Amino acid sequence: MRYPYQIKSREEYDKIYHKSVEHPLEFWDEIAQHFTWKKKYDSVLEWDFRQAHSKWFSGGKLNITENCLDRHLADKADVPAIIFEPNNPDEHHRVLTYRELHFKVMQFAQVLKNNGIKKGDRVCIYMGMIPELAIATLACARIGAIHSVIFGGFSAQSISDRIQDAEAVAVVTCDGAHRGNKTIELKSVIDDALMSCPTVKSVIVCTHTRTPVSMIKGRDMWWEDEIKKVETQGNPFVAAEEMDSEDELFILYTSGSTGKPKGVVHTTAGYMVWANYTFVNVFQYQPGQIHFCTADIGWITGHSYIVYGPLSAGATTLMFEGIPTWPDAGRFWEIIDKYNVDILYTAPTAIRSLMGFGDEPLKNRNLSSLKVLGTVGEPINEEAWHWYNEKIGKSNSPIVDTWWQTETGGIMISNLAGITPSKPSYATLPLPGIQPLLVDENGKEIQGNGVTGNLCIKFPWPGIIRTTYGDHERCRQTYFSTYDNLYFTGDGCLRDENGFYRITGRVDDVLNVSGHRIGTAEVENAINMHAGVVESAVVGYPHDIKGQGIYAYVIYTGTHGDDNLTRLDIIQTVSRIIGPIAKPDKIQFVSGLPKTRSGKIMRRILRKIAEGELSNIGDTTTLLDPMIVDEIKEGRL
Ligand code: PRX
Repeated sequence: MRYPYQIKSREEYDKIYHKSVEHPLEFWDEIAQHFTWKKKYDSVLEWDFRQAHSKWFSGGKLNITENCLDRHLADKADVPAIIFEPNNPDEHHRVLTYRELHFKVMQFAQVLKNNGIKKGDRVCIYMGMIPELAIATLACARIGAIHSVIFGGFSAQSISDRIQDAEAVAVVTCDGAHRGNKTIELKSVIDDALMSCPTVKSVIVCTHTRTPVSMIKGRDMWWEDEIKKVETQGNPFVAAEEMDSEDELFILYTSGSTGKPKGVVHTTAGYMVWANYTFVNVFQYQPGQIHFCTADIGWITGHSYIVYGPLSAGATTLMFEGIPTWPDAGRFWEIIDKYNVDILYTAPTAIRSLMGFGDEPLKNRNLSSLKVLGTVGEPINEEAWHWYNEKIGKSNSPIVDTWWQTETGGIMISNLAGITPSKPSYATLPLPGIQPLLVDENGKEIQGNGVTGNLCIKFPWPGIIRTTYGDHERCRQTYFSTYDNLYFTGDGCLRDENGFYRITGRVDDVLNVSGHRIGTAEVENAINMHAGVVESAVVGYPHDIKGQGIYAYVIYTGTHGDDNLTRLDIIQTVSRIIGPIAKPDKIQFVSGLPKTRSGKIMRRILRKIAEGELSNIGDTTTLLDPMIVDEIKEGRL
């Protein structure tokens, strides 16, 4: 399959972009022709941002797995769909062709059906990065169950919150997962989580690490046993459930500035079209190439650019179970040479971390198969950009700096590899169909170039968030109420003289730690759970590797024996409540927090102190107790 909608030149981009803005319905109608529909849609788009309402391809019937699997069987049955590189380089890798993946997805879809799981049911998937994770995800989509994949680094409490919110009826997990020299006991974490999740009736456990697990009678079953049952049934063909374009495909939880994580909902047709269109155009994927996205399927990047984007395009997607620094910091480079990877898509935090190991891990590495490099998740600093370009891309592979969000479903602003220009630390230009604009605090549009403002989008695109699970008003409030009739991204942004966009970071109370989104309120709630903690305030500060580190100011009245031990206890508490990714990097004990007379914490001041800008704190006269600022400054870590 070639991609007739793949943009081939800068001139074509300009022309297509123009058309996508002037005649969006016609434009998307043409793109949608390149997918398999069971029944054609009646209308391309109905929308009303004031109600947080967007419907794409209404009335259409389809199944995303027919687009990701069945339709490739005619000409790509023997093409590798998934290449799996295990954590341990001495273990054998696995290759699943489209035929094999199709078969395994149907088998597991039958397992789900045998366990009474049906269209519309929510299934939580908590697994390591093994092919069975992709299989389970696709099997849910096959039967119309809504998957909610949870990243393997989240704690039992976080999982339980997510399962309860989604009222999931089943969990698919593994005994354990390998990450470098560690084994994560996934099933054991699930067991803890399920103590407070009465909706879950079945747990399917895939054997992977051979970690001992407890299997609860009547609830837990082995993946392999269930597959055997299907085999004895004679491996039936599981027809792809007929889904409406707007039927929910998945929920993915993500952090916001307030309260608990919200379940971002994506639906079937629009998400599929968007994941596919952006994959084909941004990376300029050519049939036969190997695409290596290093994200975890527990995040949106994995959903869109390991699973749905590549597979819907009949591409070969490489799944890696391990981490970039084990057994040594040359692991990515070894994998690239081993499989002749064409496209590498990773995060700035990984690039910065690998850059820190110097040239040694690159010795004897060829890397000549690479044609396109990508980054995602956070702003990339120029130094890391140049290192990536020179050492990995040999100044010969365009870098796409892709800006997008869980809520956007796919890439929104990015250069197209080798087609539109790149600029270090700039995401550059919007994709066709994306109409960005910058606004000031009052929501007034900031026109012209060479300006900064808050980034909004003024027209829907097919991958836009549809709702937050179970609470549509929260979706409306969070994204569509800050500025009238606009989608607000929560990001600050600069538009340079050439109209290129550079994302400068969040303007709300959301941190971006190693490319992971973490709400300050969430971390504060977790810290406050620790006995002896009265109150806390969390801010981000620049961190060489992680991009942002977590700085916590804590009022502690428990027995103060050893500060360092107390810090470790607090860190342990956060790990338990949220997961290791949210652990504070610095904890400063304070006797009070800078608050206004109305009791609001002045985070701006705390941020400045954490950043080390002690002489530039700004106005403190509105504080209830201005003296506290001096104390905090003095105690800065
Ligand atoms: O602040 C932006 C940052 O990551 C946020 C979205 O996080 P999440 O939903 O977890 O999705 C990450 C993967 C798509 C954005 O609001 N961000 C993402 N990509 C970039 C970025 N910041 C700068 N440059 C990027 N390329």
